Amino acid sequence: MRDTGNQLKIVLLYEVKAEILLDFTLVNRFAFSQNFNFKEDHFTLYGQKQGIIQSIIDSQRGFYYTYCALDKSGKVIVVFALKRLEGYDHNSCELTLIVDYRHHGKGLGKTMIQEAIRIAFEDLKFHRIEGSILIDNQAAIKCFESNGFVLEGKQKEHVFINEKWHDTFLYALVNSNG
Ligand SMILES: CC(C)(COP(=O)(O)OP(=O)(O)OC[C@H]1O[C@@H](n2cnc3c(N)ncnc32)[C@H](O)[C@@H]1OP(=O)(O)O)[C@@H](O)C(=O)NCCC(=O)NCCS
Repeated sequence: MRDTGNQLKIVLLYEVKAEILLDFTLVNRFAFSQNFNFKEDHFTLYGQKQGIIQSIIDSQRGFYYTYCALDKSGKVIVVFALKRLEGYDHNSCELTLIVDYRHHGKGLGKTMIQEAIRIAFEDLKFHRIEGSILIDNQAAIKCFESNGFVLEGKQKEHVFINEKWHDTFLYALVNSNG
């Protein structure tokens, strides 16, 4: 567990109760379905319990690390994940995040990306972090750019969300010391 200094605690997802995760997921259902391709199960208590078990396995395997930022009352207000990208000859991960919509515009997106960078480079020793952002997601673009991510190009029809293919921008940040 880590205190970010702004009264938020960062914990691994499996340290949070499924009911609390479900609350965050249902409240932010719209953002989940606009930006990611989660199955219907994700929005149920059963799905959250499965997600917790899977996140223990995935982090033990060094494949996928999901974190939550908790407020003082223990509620989840941000979820972010670092997913190892496959390949023997590189050491990269992909960063995704979602901030509770009731807390948008308060700088949390930027702060949490900063925190994710620290975890990825210092704790997990990744060399490169990528972010794939839907091309019309101005808030995410600002958050990544203001944390030093550089635009590397457009990925045509890269993600399938809501029955449609969408283009994304590929952003990346490299740890020149690691
Ligand atoms: C993208 C997201 C994480 C941003 O979180 P946030 O806490 O609202 O972001 P911040 O408050 O740190 O704002 C970051 C910047 O974006 C700007 N911004 C916020 N909403 C914006 C919008 N709709 N259009 C343009 N700029 C916007 C802010 O003004 C701020 O700019 P500044 O640095 O010039 O002040 C949040 O909107 C979210 O969770 N969206 C749904 C999931 C998602 O899109 N994830 C990203 C893909 S992985």
